[in-house]
Amino acid sequence: MANRVQQFDTVIIGAGAAGLMCAAHAGATGGRVLIVDHAKAPGEKIRISGGGRCNFTNLHVKPQRFISANPHFAKSALSRYTQHDFIALVDQYGIAYHEKTLGQLFCDASARLIVDMLCDEAAASGAELRLQTRIGSIEHADGGFTLAVEENGAAYNVSCRHLVVACGGKSIPKMGATGFGYRIAEQFGLAVTETRPGLVPLTFGEDVLASFKPLAGVATPVEVAGGGARFAEAMLFTHRGLSGPAILQISSYWREGEPITVTLLPEQDALTALRERRQIDGRKSMVTVLADLLPKRLVAYLAEQLGITGNIGDMSDKKLSALVQALNGWTLHPIGTEGYRTAEVTLGGVDTGEIDSRTMQAKKVLGLYFIGEVVDVTGWLGGYNFQWAWSSGWAAGTAI
Ligand code: FDA
Repeated sequence: MANRVQQFDTVIIGAGAAGLMCAAHAGATGGRVLIVDHAKAPGEKIRISGGGRCNFTNLHVKPQRFISANPHFAKSALSRYTQHDFIALVDQYGIAYHEKTLGQLFCDASARLIVDMLCDEAAASGAELRLQTRIGSIEHADGGFTLAVEENGAAYNVSCRHLVVACGGKSIPKMGATGFGYRIAEQFGLAVTETRPGLVPLTFGEDVLASFKPLAGVATPVEVAGGGARFAEAMLFTHRGLSGPAILQISSYWREGEPITVTLLPEQDALTALRERRQIDGRKSMVTVLADLLPKRLVAYLAEQLGITGNIGDMSDKKLSALVQALNGWTLHPIGTEGYRTAEVTLGGVDTGEIDSRTMQAKKVLGLYFIGEVVDVTGWLGGYNFQWAWSSGWAAGTAI
């Protein structure tokens, strides 16, 4: 018996950040809208993001803070639906928030408020949400799409004129990330750039890890450089290697085989500061002086690694300068990353050359749209990735 066909104008695959935003706008012009997700609940990544408080945008969004093979691609959507537009929506719902650091806006209470807000917006625009719903095959004929759907054991077909792919990347497979969006792109002959984990801790070889062991849990503000980028934020030593915002940021630029360089005393002219300390505290040991500037456990580690002994008063300018160079040019060789298991995002994705940057519609397949993380646009840490989801979701939703 032939499966019955349900007709919609727009089907959105993925009720995450981008899909919900798109649904909230598609209803106005996109006719009957269906949003499907295989998960039990919508917006799960929003719910767990920012330690449950959701860093929902950043006050300082600019295109340079997004990584893509085409650095211009994100400009259109980001400039037409800005961080201020999203903040206005959050204000409209009376959701309290605060700036934590570097323009990062977090909810005061729970990230659930953002999920609820987006679900309310999508429902208000008339979109129907179906959870625990899987998409099998997708067929394309006569300018429309037919999807084989399985919902709670029932199989049926859905047809639509607009198909929006908003199923995210490969990060955190435990939360239902599948890479399905890339397979849809490939099915339609669209190029997908190399994908790899981004915003992810870096790992090290056995010998380095063994030496880092006593440092697990130590955090310190640093500057980290690598892959042509540089970030001044905190670095955290863990049992598996290095993490913390500075490392997560640089991981998106780092490539296998490359070193990273850490500046441990970034906030001052370290040589001048140490010379001054030599004048005042000549009888103090160098280790004691350094412990005023860096965490004690890190100083103990550095003292052993660099052979730091004696009083600061006995250090010549040359020796102080060599020490500063060692502390501010600490070169490390990561062997890899923790991978998609812990990565916040997936770098790479559907090639932006295949997509119209105003509408997010595939140039070769009219009616097919890609939004959010599945596209080759990846933001910095700090609310940038959600802003891309909101902006690209809005661009498609209002274009449909
Ligand atoms: P998203 O992953 O949100 O949604 C995709 C949806 O598609 C999911 O609901 C999924 O279940 C569904 N799906 C997948 N495959 C499917 C299939 N085959 N069939 C049906 N449905 C399918 N960013 C930020 O800006 N600020 C922050 O604070 C954080 N914090 C953060 C913490 C953690 C732990 C992670 C992993 C990530 C972040 N991020 C973040 C990144 C942010 O979560 C991410 O960039 C956006 O959620 C991407 O939005 P999308 O809608 O593209 O994908």
